[in-house]
Amino acid sequence: MNHPLIIALDFSNGVEVEKFLRPFQGISLFVKVGMELYYQEGPSIINLLKEQGHQVFLDLKLHDIPNTVYRAMKGLARLNCDLVNVHAAGGWEMMESAMEGLEAGTSAGGKRPSCIAVTQLTSTSEVQMQKEQLIQATLMESVLHYASLTKTAGLDGVVCSAQEAAAIRQQIGPDFLTVCPGIRLKSDQTGDQKRVSSPEFAKEAGVSAIVVGRSITKAVDPLENYHQWIQVWGGAAK
Ligand code: C5P
Repeated sequence: MNHPLIIALDFSNGVEVEKFLRPFQGISLFVKVGMELYYQEGPSIINLLKEQGHQVFLDLKLHDIPNTVYRAMKGLARLNCDLVNVHAAGGWEMMESAMEGLEAGTSAGGKRPSCIAVTQLTSTSEVQMQKEQLIQATLMESVLHYASLTKTAGLDGVVCSAQEAAAIRQQIGPDFLTVCPGIRLKSDQTGDQKRVSSPEFAKEAGVSAIVVGRSITKAVDPLENYHQWIQVWGGAAK
């Protein structure tokens, strides 16, 4: 993963996606399809994005019993996505089953999608985590714990905030992916995100990829805004 900027296509249907992507013609992007879009459009939206030459992160955050996650991942592996994910809170056995499902669903000679686990959502604060999940540890300890669990289950990395990325790299190693949402320019609104960071901070922390949604998708001129991001972040656009 070459330090991409992943654009979160948080739209309600394919028509909105096509309209958004029109100005980006000729640029190969790394995009994220989340629940909102996938639940409306299904696999056809993945096919369309792949046909257009984009890399796709299918962000469905699976969290269920191991057998269900195994079977779901076996199906998702056939969609030809580049990156998929689960919630680390689903546990070690669930994560191991997710990987087995992906392996089983990947065609002979095909490439298994990378798989990462959400540690603590970037919309969760330490106080919320302690009160609502009844976790006595600090947020950093919880994220590091989930990152280790994810590693031992054989996954490729985690979703975390940029604030935890350096500690994860130090604990687990530089090849373990840290994919970070909650990234904001100074001029952006924080919205529902709690653990936000600037792209400069994320770069300094050595994160593997940043996920940017509303800053780009809600911009008056998304293409111009994307280029601003690329200037700060580097890489990604081809
Ligand atoms: O608009 P914004 O930049 O906040 O979008 C962030 C995207 O990353 C959203 O699509 C959200 O679902 C996703 N995400 C997140 N935090 C996680 C995992 C995914 O914000 N831990």
